[in-house]
Order: sequence, then C-alpha cells, then structure tokens
Amino acid sequence: MTQDELKAMVGQAATAYVQAGSVIGVGTGSTVNCFIDALASMKQRIKAAVSSSQASSERLRSHGFEVVDANSVEALAVYIDGADEIDALGRMIKGGGAALTREKIVADLAGRFVCIADASKLVEVLGRFPLPVEVIPMAAAQVARRLIALGGRPVLRAGVVTDNGCSLIDVHGLSITDPAAMECEINQWPGVVACGIFARNQANVCLLGTPQGVQTLTF
Ligand code: A5P
Repeated sequence: MTQDELKAMVGQAATAYVQAGSVIGVGTGSTVNCFIDALASMKQRIKAAVSSSQASSERLRSHGFEVVDANSVEALAVYIDGADEIDALGRMIKGGGAALTREKIVADLAGRFVCIADASKLVEVLGRFPLPVEVIPMAAAQVARRLIALGGRPVLRAGVVTDNGCSLIDVHGLSITDPAAMECEINQWPGVVACGIFARNQANVCLLGTPQGVQTLTF
C-alpha cells in the first residue's frame, strides 16, 4: 500500500469517532484532508467544525460544511488531526504544516484527541522530525539562541508566515526524551507562540495506517 492509501484508510476510519450532530475539531495536513473528504459523504452527521487552519477551513467549506469560530464553543467532543511523529504514549510532534498553534488551541477544547497517521509516524523517541516552534518575528534570533543551548540546530522556515502572522523555526537534532518537560520549558520563553511538542495535549487514540489495516492505539 502507498502512503496515500494508508492516509485515506485512517481518514475514513476516523469518521467512526464523529458523534452525530456534533461540532467537531478538525486539524490540518494531508491525512486530515482525507478525513475531510471522507466526512463529505456523510454531511448530515456533523453540525459544524472548528478548524485549525485556513487551508482546512477552505476544504471544509468547499464540501458544504459550516466552520465556526473557536470562541463560539465551550468544548468539543473530539478533535481529529494528524501528526509528524507520535510515540508509544501518544505524545506527538506537530507543525510540519505550520498550523501548530491553532491545532493546540482546538485540541485543548476537545475532550478526545484522535490522531490519524500512517505507520511511518510512530517513533520510539520524538525528535527525528525537526521540531517546529512558532515565534513572534522580533524574537526569532533570541529564541534560536536558546534552542541551540538546548542542544538543537534551529533553522528558520524560509518564506513561511503562519496563519497568525508569525515565523517558524524548525529545530533539528533534538532527542526529546521528556516531551512534557521540554514543551513546558520552550513555551515559557518570551516570543514563543507555541512549540510543536504535544505532550500536554497528547493523543487519546491513534488510528495508525499499516499495510495490515488500521491499528488502534489508546493512551
Ligand atoms: C500541521 O501543522 C501538522 O501538525 C500536521 O498535522 C502534520 O504535519 C501531519 O501532516 P500530514 O498528515 O500531511 O502528514
């Protein structure tokens, strides 16, 4: 099976986690695009969606779904999103698609985070995928120096401005053995908007696409 077929498989499987008539949280990325497309065949099932990016909002609307502002809901039953890496405890690196801050906001509203990913995303230790950190542009160099002190190699993502008008730094060479501690540390630096470690807002379920079918991991 190709990676695209694995993504389509878990995108379809995630529709089973959508409660009829509910407002759901929708993430960003190629795997989520498969989920949105699968959801399109069952439009009547959701009332609306809170989206984590302009790209996902546009795709949802193109299928006729209503997209509502995060401020208009108090809680969401479920948030469906992909990941760049996920470990055996459900902690993730996210932000390869530059949407990490809004993804964290929507994930935080949700009672359940369902991660959809192909099997290549499952890792023993987070960090092989460069860790995205969203920063206020004037703090980029300052934050980069702190990331070097942490043992990483920060690289500014050239030409990218996030949906929030900020910059992204991708941090190479980290071995994230304590995701919660590193997330907490990076989050407190002035100028950091969000860090791509999702330990506090970790997955509750992961639908992993494997050549043998969808493997369900619960955390
Ligand atoms: C978006 O910013 C990311 O967090 C995505 O969820 C992540 O990059 C997964 O994307 P794919 O589904 O395209 O691999």
